[in-house]
Amino acid sequence: MTADRPGAPAGAQTDLPHTVQQVYAPACRLRPLRSTDFDRVLQLERVLFGAGAWTFGMLADELAALGRWYVVAEPTGPDAVAVYGPGPKPVVGYAGLWFDGDVAQIMTIGVDPAYQRHGVGRELLRALVERSRNLRAGAVLLEVRVDNDAALGLYEKAGFERIGLRRRYYQPEDKDAFTMRLDLSAAAPAEETAAEGAGAEGDGGDDGPGPVGDAA
Ligand SMILES: CC(C)(COP(=O)(O)OP(=O)(O)OC[C@H]1O[C@@H](n2cnc3c(N)ncnc32)[C@H](O)[C@@H]1OP(=O)(O)O)[C@@H](O)C(=O)NCCC(=O)NCCS
Repeated sequence: MTADRPGAPAGAQTDLPHTVQQVYAPACRLRPLRSTDFDRVLQLERVLFGAGAWTFGMLADELAALGRWYVVAEPTGPDAVAVYGPGPKPVVGYAGLWFDGDVAQIMTIGVDPAYQRHGVGRELLRALVERSRNLRAGAVLLEVRVDNDAALGLYEKAGFERIGLRRRYYQPEDKDAFTMRLDLSAAAPAEETAAEGAGAEGDGGDDGPGPVGDAA
């Protein structure tokens, strides 16, 4: 969960075998996370979260828990075929939420470093917020490390507001976290109803909260 997700450790390297080491990134589409994505997601976890990365067991438990909904981003279109060939494309981003019947909590969001700053994180977050609206959640909540400028920028641009500071929330890093909240009681802004930017093709499906292992 974001509570355990302080962000990329300093000096994290992109040593992912499927990663495109170039500035240009193909368009992406969003789809539900499947069990066949586990290895790739765990690979990204290690790069993005270092010592705080989820293990296979943690990821499996998380996805099997009640009220979870996870999506991944994968490259699509002719550019993706040119880069990766006609076969399956590597997941380059993932995100998930937990809906408890009242509010939605963002559990994680991560983008392959080679694909960052191309709108993938924004599309993943948009899908989570849209899903939360569809679930009639009153708000979306999350925790983020106070020095995670990328994530703070992402959330603030999407309208999240800082509502509290949790001192020494992240251990052993001993870092504080902001709690952030997006109020969903107001009408949805027009911007959130249209998939754009990274070329997202939908919000990852319409399956309800709960295990999403093979929900494609
Ligand atoms: C946070 C993260 C998911 C953002 O993904 P991304 O695909 O690079 O983000 P986007 O390209 O969609 O950027 C959307 C907005 O976020 C903000 N943002 C993203 N990266 C930023 C950075 N490095 N510095 C400042 N703002 C940033 C900007 O406001 C950006 O809008 P703009 O491009 O119009 O300026 C990505 O940096 C990441 O995976 N970080 C490591 C894992 C992590 O910290 N997860 C969050 C845990 S709470």
